[in-house]
Amino acid sequence: MKFTINVPATSANLGPGFDALGLALDLWNETTISLAKEFAAHVTGEGAGRLASGKNNLIVRAAQRLAEGAGKPLPPFHAECVNHIPLSSGMGSSSAAIITGLMAGNTLLENPFSREEILNLACDMEGHPDNVAPAMMGGLVVSTMERGEVIARKIPISTDIHVTIALPDFYLPTKQARAALPKKVSMKNAIHNISRTALVVEALRNGDLDLLGKVMTDKLHQPYRLRLIPGAAQAMSAAKDAGASAVALSGAGPSVIAFSTGEAGVGESMKRAYEAAGVDARIFRLGVAGRGAELERRELEN
Ligand code: HSE
Repeated sequence: MKFTINVPATSANLGPGFDALGLALDLWNETTISLAKEFAAHVTGEGAGRLASGKNNLIVRAAQRLAEGAGKPLPPFHAECVNHIPLSSGMGSSSAAIITGLMAGNTLLENPFSREEILNLACDMEGHPDNVAPAMMGGLVVSTMERGEVIARKIPISTDIHVTIALPDFYLPTKQARAALPKKVSMKNAIHNISRTALVVEALRNGDLDLLGKVMTDKLHQPYRLRLIPGAAQAMSAAKDAGASAVALSGAGPSVIAFSTGEAGVGESMKRAYEAAGVDARIFRLGVAGRGAELERRELEN
């Protein structure tokens, strides 16, 4: 048996929608799974030489997790990974690996779980739904957890939305970025985010970048995280100065996502801002991935 699983990058939060909003982006990890004598993963592209190559690989661990849930033994497999999503970037690389592993396990065990159940398992592994839900479903997804179950809905959005992501060469683990957040927030700041989260959804639905620019602000996580990332606050200002309508930290960072009608120097301006803070940066100009994770059977050998 041999099949390929494609999973898109995702940008979570989108400013005020902390742990709730996520957008799938047209940048994909492609993993070909084939039965093997032992668990192994080989990576080309992003993360090559850095990701575990045996049973500790996140794809293998996720597949094992699914097998435990199904109460079935998992046959060993080889994962040939062609990765385009940068690691620890705020672009959903761990979600992509988790979903790849869960879908691989599910396929190898002849589909004991539905896509919705796979999403629940993915949230359980990731700890929050806002990357895994859009990675599974594509497009803009609003999600939450209720008694251990994910509630997620895809919102149809304008097909004209394009983003520029600036990714600094700076390591900020999500765990550290979450640990920097306060345990309590003020009612005023909660209200700031609740109203704007709804308006961000409306702005994306209509492709209304002016509205997006007014409401893509946050008081719950970005102020605390921007302090940890050299150049990120400056990159956000620089993108706006270069004509971007709206900017936010992508996920927990360290990358910044900018929404604009054209590239017109937005990426370059963010790169220069990071460089001025002593950090190199890479630029990605991406459309929205309208569909989520998919299984492609290239060859059936048994
Ligand atoms: N909502 C999560 C966070 C996304 O901001 O911590 C992490 O990618």
